[in-house]
Amino acid sequence: MKKEKIRNLIDIKDFSVKEIDELIKVANDIITNREKYSHKCDGKILATLFFEPSTRTRLSFESAMLRLGGKVLGFSEAGSSSTAKGETLGDTIETVSGYADIIAMRHPKEGAPVVASKRASVPIINAGDGGHNHPTQTLTDLLTISREKKRLNNLTIGLCGDLKFGRTIHSIISAMSRYDNIKFILISPDELKLPDYTITEVLEKNNIEYVETNNLEEYMSDLDILYMTRVQKERFFNEADYLRLKDYYILDRKKLDNAKKDLCIMHPLPRVSEINPDVDDDPRAKYFTQAHNGVYIRMALILKLLEVK
Ligand code: NCD
Repeated sequence: MKKEKIRNLIDIKDFSVKEIDELIKVANDIITNREKYSHKCDGKILATLFFEPSTRTRLSFESAMLRLGGKVLGFSEAGSSSTAKGETLGDTIETVSGYADIIAMRHPKEGAPVVASKRASVPIINAGDGGHNHPTQTLTDLLTISREKKRLNNLTIGLCGDLKFGRTIHSIISAMSRYDNIKFILISPDELKLPDYTITEVLEKNNIEYVETNNLEEYMSDLDILYMTRVQKERFFNEADYLRLKDYYILDRKKLDNAKKDLCIMHPLPRVSEINPDVDDDPRAKYFTQAHNGVYIRMALILKLLEVK
């Protein structure tokens, strides 16, 4: 394969809105006609290289490839790979390029997937790089929003929790800023506010309406989507700060009293304490549906990057 022909998914903006809409369409078709896809990737291999913990992202990638008839290999912690012996990321990637047709990787360092893509001879999928981006979670989120709300425009979206380190937040803002009439309510403690560059380079540059607040209930009645996130313990420099901030927001039934009847409550998971389990039975809680949608959109993504018709 010629290097310049390879498509990667490093940043959600690597795909146009049209391409994302097409992926959503394919994912919806997979949901209704699963059998049709069960041999699309016969003989293909996906490598999942996870240098950071994961449950959903890695297993949904593996499930996606297995459901397409392909096979999977990989590792789920850096310590069990030659990284522990001092091998560079580039050398690992060049090696695995000969073992698999496509690579999904997660790494604690921001930008690692870009470095990897320079050495890879197969498509690279960013399955999360440090506190930076998480484009396949965003594809999962967009599929969920489009299925639950029947639209990706005209939405007021509350993003709550760790907006500073939360990579799912950075990617969903970047993606949704390309649709019409989107308004963001950015709910976080002062210390975990959305980084300035996202405010200026994404929101302000695209004339996206937004407000910042540290009060979860203040705009509750306006929201179409409430996207909760965990405080990203692993990105903190000291434990005391984490302990002080970790329970800053706890969504419970009571706090939903003024919310819209068709609010869609999302969370990329894992949840720690930010959503009380008493919310799980509320029909507006969509986070486990969201996790399941991850398989179908990743199936669509693998088909696209491997150019399977
Ligand atoms: C997210 C992540 O890894 O960024 N998890 C996921 O992939 N579903 C969110 C998180 O870890 O808080």
